[in-house]
Amino acid sequence: MSLLKKDVNRGLGKHSHHRAPVKMLPTFVRATPDGTEKGDFLALDLGGTNFRVLHVRVLEEEQKMVKMDSQICAIPQEIMTGTGEQLFDHIAACLAEFLDSQNLKGHTLPLGFTFSFPCEQKEIDKSILIRWTKGFNCSGVEGEDVVKLLREAIHRRGDYDIGSVAMVNDTVGTMMSCGYRDQSCEIGMIIGTGTNACYMEEMKNVKRVEGEDGRMCINTEWGGFGDDGSLKHILTEFDVEVDKTSINPGVHTFEKMISGMYLGEIARLLLVKLTKDQLLFKGKTSEALLTPGSFETRFISEIEEEESGLKNTETILTQLGLTWDSVDVRVVRVVCDTISSRSARLCAAALATLVNRIRVNRGRGHLKTTVGVDGTVYRKHPNFSEELQTWVRRLSPDCDISFLVSEDGSGKGAAMVTAVAQRIALQSRL
Ligand code: GLC
Repeated sequence: MSLLKKDVNRGLGKHSHHRAPVKMLPTFVRATPDGTEKGDFLALDLGGTNFRVLHVRVLEEEQKMVKMDSQICAIPQEIMTGTGEQLFDHIAACLAEFLDSQNLKGHTLPLGFTFSFPCEQKEIDKSILIRWTKGFNCSGVEGEDVVKLLREAIHRRGDYDIGSVAMVNDTVGTMMSCGYRDQSCEIGMIIGTGTNACYMEEMKNVKRVEGEDGRMCINTEWGGFGDDGSLKHILTEFDVEVDKTSINPGVHTFEKMISGMYLGEIARLLLVKLTKDQLLFKGKTSEALLTPGSFETRFISEIEEEESGLKNTETILTQLGLTWDSVDVRVVRVVCDTISSRSARLCAAALATLVNRIRVNRGRGHLKTTVGVDGTVYRKHPNFSEELQTWVRRLSPDCDISFLVSEDGSGKGAAMVTAVAQRIALQSRL
């Protein structure tokens, strides 16, 4: 917590931010919903488990968001690691197909683009990709304005157009979709394929953006914590190996100890080591167990399931071609529990750092706040959320924290950011 606290300050500083591992990116989201937002919006969601296109209606009278329709489009592996042009052409084609199916091609709707990667935002509609994370690595996009690349791809087609664009990180969408239900929601957190959080910071502390009044949402990009070596003392040999064999070695150290893209691989490496040390499976590994990626993160959840966990473990070990006995089964469960608990506790420490910061920012002895959360690890693991909440409460005893699982933050939340941006633009014109 004390290391992260220091890095948060470095990331926010006018001169120190360039080399800061925790990027603390301004999002140009200055307000949470006030309940008067309305209209029809498109939303794109790239960077989570699926790529999706959505049509969302925000109703003022009933204070609610309605998802009119949505479509999942697969992104083939060769596009995830191909050229930027191919990626944006693919996105524009999916959007075209969706607009056709909804009879929306003639309407120029505003679009919220949930793009869950670290971006240097200059404005709500100008967003430069700093670097790819998770499974993406398309050439020619880092250092470029993502909105421009999207618009260019749409213009290359020439069969439809979009209105104003708001760029949104998934953490921000999550915070905003919860903010609609609970106006004290000032933190958004994701523990899914990757991990990250955003929160409302006082403008006077955001030295990179002009203005002293009010607040702005900051995308912390806490996944990058430790990239300068500050977490070396808690990295295990398995973390080092996961990093080395990832598509972005040296980058997103904290994320690699926590998120869904990596937990299964950490477990696999640990099981291999225990087997080689003759502590599991009578010292006999299997071809599957020795194959990177074969131990999926969802296995951890299945193995730790309260009732069916031991049975699930047996099935999984058999599928992996291993010969096991009842002691092996229990040891495997302990391994999974150790890895998921570490993940939950690390997240708890990071979240407590932010909650404590908000409390101090407001000059309060006590703070009541809500965290909007999403992500497959948080949602699907049997006791991750409980462990995380217990530890956050212990680490921030002066705060009263509620957790709200976001209802499609990356889809509806992006529409909400767009709606709030539109409301504020209209108000400032009046
Ligand atoms: C990665 C991305 C970040 C995103 C997170 C969760 O850490 O860099 O932008 O919010 O994954 O999807």
